[in-house]
Amino acid sequence: MDSPIGYHEAKALLEWQVELGVDEAIGETPINRYELDAAPPKPKPAPAPEPETTPVAAHDPVAAAKSAAAAATNLDALQGALAAYEFCDLKRGARSLVFADGNPAARVMVIGEAPGRDEDLQGKPFVGRAGQLLDRMLDCIGLARTTPGAEHAVYITNILPWRPPQNRDPKPEEIAMMLPFVQRHVELAAPDVLVLMGNVSCLAMLGRKGITRLRGNWQDVLGRPALPMFHPAYLLRNPHAKREAWHDLLMLQARLRGL
Ligand code: URA
Repeated sequence: MDSPIGYHEAKALLEWQVELGVDEAIGETPINRYELDAAPPKPKPAPAPEPETTPVAAHDPVAAAKSAAAAATNLDALQGALAAYEFCDLKRGARSLVFADGNPAARVMVIGEAPGRDEDLQGKPFVGRAGQLLDRMLDCIGLARTTPGAEHAVYITNILPWRPPQNRDPKPEEIAMMLPFVQRHVELAAPDVLVLMGNVSCLAMLGRKGITRLRGNWQDVLGRPALPMFHPAYLLRNPHAKREAWHDLLMLQARLRGL
């Protein structure tokens, strides 16, 4: 700022103020308080009304899913929470909520992608052609969804509980909404081992896809060993990959024996 007075005069004034006890500069422009209006103090503006507190969950589908899933203390309650969840449009196009099949006490929990036509019709995961192949694969290592004892049983679910239209790939926002429910599902079922079937399951549970490289390599999901494998629908289209799938099944069997 240009000063109307010279350097020496300004310095003298400053020293004089310091002598008087001034020890702080509070503004760049001097104010002559004798010339100020003795205007009455302005009334304080009324405080702004409190914004209406809408719970975060009411407009954030993922937050709503997290709180609904966390509140479920058993599998029935979790299924009920999913049935009551209104943020996922897939629900409106699907016939059934496909929650799970098999024995919830099983040591192995299989997580697939999403119901297809047959699953939507029957309300159970993996009942179509891919599901029949899955049953045969599990049977090879002595596991079945219908076995009464937990030791040789499997429990099966999907990342999405509702069929996407025309079996299209799940959208990232659909996976994000359903993930808290799947994570709670794993916590409540508490299996010894998870099997992640295909890319969508890996993307949701590991945050990564690239099943060709992931398969056959144990991962950690929610503190449990998780084995990515080729999806049985992929094996139907690419029968040559059954060799790797067989290798992975044997790894699963060895792990179960060792645990
Ligand atoms: N594919 C899946 O990933 N899940 C099913 O339930 C059926 C087919």
